[in-house]
Amino acid sequence: MKVAVVGKGGVGKTFVSGTLAKLIKKSNPEETVIAIDADPSMNLYIELGVDQETVKKITPLCEDAPLVKDIVGIGGGTAENLIMNLNPNVEGLIERYAIESPDGVRLLIMGTVRSAGQGCMCPANTLLRALLRHVFVRVRGSVVIDMEAGFEHLGRGTIQYVDGVLNIIEPSMQSIETSLKICRLALELGIRNHVFVANKVADKAEEEFIKSALSDHQQHLNFTLPYDNCIKQLSMRSRVNHDELWKSSKAVRAIEELRSQLKN
Ligand SMILES: Nc1ncnc2c1ncn2[C@@H]1O[C@H](COP(=O)(O)OP(=O)(O)OP(=O)(O)O)[C@@H](O)[C@H]1O
Ligand SMILES: [Mg+2]
Repeated sequence: MKVAVVGKGGVGKTFVSGTLAKLIKKSNPEETVIAIDADPSMNLYIELGVDQETVKKITPLCEDAPLVKDIVGIGGGTAENLIMNLNPNVEGLIERYAIESPDGVRLLIMGTVRSAGQGCMCPANTLLRALLRHVFVRVRGSVVIDMEAGFEHLGRGTIQYVDGVLNIIEPSMQSIETSLKICRLALELGIRNHVFVANKVADKAEEEFIKSALSDHQQHLNFTLPYDNCIKQLSMRSRVNHDELWKSSKAVRAIEELRSQLKN
């Protein structure tokens, strides 16, 4: 299962990505599960229970200028003026750079792609695309990628190799509009499976609101995750007592149901 989690800012992409990655690993401990943080705000590690000290020690892949130059460069030149290999060899990067979470999920932090006026042809973005293509096409196991909010970055061609997109919507017109734009872009990129997931849904009326707004655009709501006060409490806690609360969360249980439906 290789999915990208997309949607407007604050809808719950990081919560869903981290929880789904953990639940996939729990359901099959033998499986390689990779969680990729492709959002420049880089907070997926919290959801995965990785401690901040560990994260502080690493440089996000796309911000590691010597690494980028080493992998992408085929000649001289500075980072801005590099003669690039557009199809670099990224074999071994996951083994070298992934951080293992307490549950055994392997976390890759991509960091910010600064394009320095070169758009999608910049070295860091070339590395990002090559790594994602490798992870999605070659790696055996599951991959969940927590994307940056919105849709501007989707044109860079970073997610066209995923099996599917989880498009997270919260009950608001703004969120629905962003998700519909993302859906159109994903279709243009040729992504076959598009799953609309409503999140933070407090009641039937909110679910109906999302269903009917999507159906006005000939789209269908596939799954609903409830609003859950537990999640708010979890986000204010350290790892202490975290697991009990996590297990009792109705939103986590709903994501487990989502996982099993996606698998089938
Ligand atoms: N089902 C839910 N019930 C209650 N709170 C939730 C739920 N899902 C997410 N949240 C809370 O909503 C907030 C935003 O969630 P999250 O950070 O996952 O969103 P995001 O889409 O990744 O945001 P960003 O676009 O900033 O990266 C967090 O405080 C999170 O704990
Ligand atoms: Mg996020």
